[in-house]
Amino acid sequence: MPRMIVDCDPGHDDAIALIVAHEYAEVVGVTTVAGNAPLSATTTNALLMMALLGVDTPVYSGASEALAGPAPHAQAVHGSSGLGGVTRMEHDRTVAGTDAVGFLLDAPRPDDWIVALGPLTNLALAIERDPGWVRRVAGISIMGGSAGVGNVTRVAEFNIWADPEAAARVFRSGADLTMCGLNLTHQFRSSDAVTERLRNVDSPLAAFAVESFDYLHARMAEFIGSRDAALHDPCAVLAVTHPELLETEMRAVDVETTGTLTRGMTVVDQRVTRRRDPNNVRVAYRIDAAGAMDVTLAALGVS
Ligand code: RIB
Ligand code: CA
Repeated sequence: MPRMIVDCDPGHDDAIALIVAHEYAEVVGVTTVAGNAPLSATTTNALLMMALLGVDTPVYSGASEALAGPAPHAQAVHGSSGLGGVTRMEHDRTVAGTDAVGFLLDAPRPDDWIVALGPLTNLALAIERDPGWVRRVAGISIMGGSAGVGNVTRVAEFNIWADPEAAARVFRSGADLTMCGLNLTHQFRSSDAVTERLRNVDSPLAAFAVESFDYLHARMAEFIGSRDAALHDPCAVLAVTHPELLETEMRAVDVETTGTLTRGMTVVDQRVTRRRDPNNVRVAYRIDAAGAMDVTLAALGVS
């Protein structure tokens, strides 16, 4: 069973990813970052998920701002709380600390993975404090970027766009980096049919997932006229726990930080004949969506 630290900005898909991670990996700790909602909300939501899971995984809060300034949020998608539409159980969980960067630097063993599901600010600050850190972990798997379309802009995906300077530092760090971008995560979608497979499961995790999917499907119907919703963040966990479900290619990738139209874009060199730059990122291109959904639903209690 792989060991990992999950850096996240819950967010409904982060929350599902935390459930999947706890089912198929040893989660050493959870660190939070501002992203889908302000840091206070994403941290509150991470603590809620630990209580819902009934686990003692420590939660450390991290960056409340992006490297270059205030952190943007995605509350139109996830609600002002970051977990709109879900029932909140009472619990007494509190953070283990507020130095997420220190935890990221000190906690991992050499075979531990870092799985990042939000803006990469905490990881960039860890690299700034100790550039050798990236070689003291097994690898970094991120949900972020895209080898195709963007979502926040034509070409930029939210996690990268929210802190491009941080993302550039991670992509240029020499880390063993796996990128699960929108070109991949758009292949892995929840739907009302998926929700129906959960409705008869008598468990708090299944009930949480039903509320989350119903909320996300309603938002997607508003935004794009279809109720299907990409399950972005679980893909970055599955890239570690179930790598056989994904097809990847090594590519040269860098992050645009100054372009008027392209700030926050992951620029992937997909030229076949001439690649002058080193291939620094394992880019995921295909996912066995049915297999990934079976694995995800099994973690939620669907037999
Ligand atoms: O663009 C999708 C990403 O942005 C996901 O991680 C989602 O949780 C939001 O953070
Ligand atoms: Ca996220």
